[in-house]
Amino acid sequence: MADRAVYVFDAYGTLFDVHSAVARLRERLGPEAERLSELWRIKQLEYSWVRSLMPHRDRRHRDFRLLTEDALDYAMAATGGIDPALRGPLLDAYDALDAYPEVPSVLAALKDKGARLAILSNGSPAMLADATRSAGLDHLFDAVLSVEDAGIFKPDPRVYQLACDRFCVAAEEVSFQSSNAWDAAGAAAFGFSVVWVNRRRQPREYHDVGAIREAKDLTALLEP
Ligand code: LAC
Repeated sequence: MADRAVYVFDAYGTLFDVHSAVARLRERLGPEAERLSELWRIKQLEYSWVRSLMPHRDRRHRDFRLLTEDALDYAMAATGGIDPALRGPLLDAYDALDAYPEVPSVLAALKDKGARLAILSNGSPAMLADATRSAGLDHLFDAVLSVEDAGIFKPDPRVYQLACDRFCVAAEEVSFQSSNAWDAAGAAAFGFSVVWVNRRRQPREYHDVGAIREAKDLTALLEP
């Protein structure tokens, strides 16, 4: 029987390797490349949380692409010694990140079984369209859902609700996959059935939030 299960995936860090942008330009970035990449990601996420928590009247919503630019500007300034001419190439590389190696085959196998697949991401619709197209994954998704439709970033429950609304399912019917521990926790608190894709072998966090299954990569979804 076809498996009509709904699998919803976080994008950045889960399907796409956010550090592949810096990796592509590593030679030209020099010895601080890794620090730049870590800071870039941390600031991008921090900006999303701060903008979500500000009082609404003061919250100048900026989409994730703009926050990605803001975060890169901070990371370049804080790291120092980075050629300013690399700003454009780094952002271009971010629009075409590498997918993790197992992603295409796992998504295709789930799709073959009849599952419904979606992305649910902080990314703006344009960023997500670029990312899925450049990684050759765009034909696999039934929906690419952006927080822009909720007007606030993860882990606000209004974001996770977008997936329930799109597929007309209850939260517990959704299998949600994220490599970001804070996103996995937010999704579990919302009621999704969550797989934390712990790609970087990080220590467990958010013990009190509810059951979260841990996996080393997405191949766990194909295990019985
Ligand atoms: C996303 C961020 C959390 O894709 O990486 O939503």
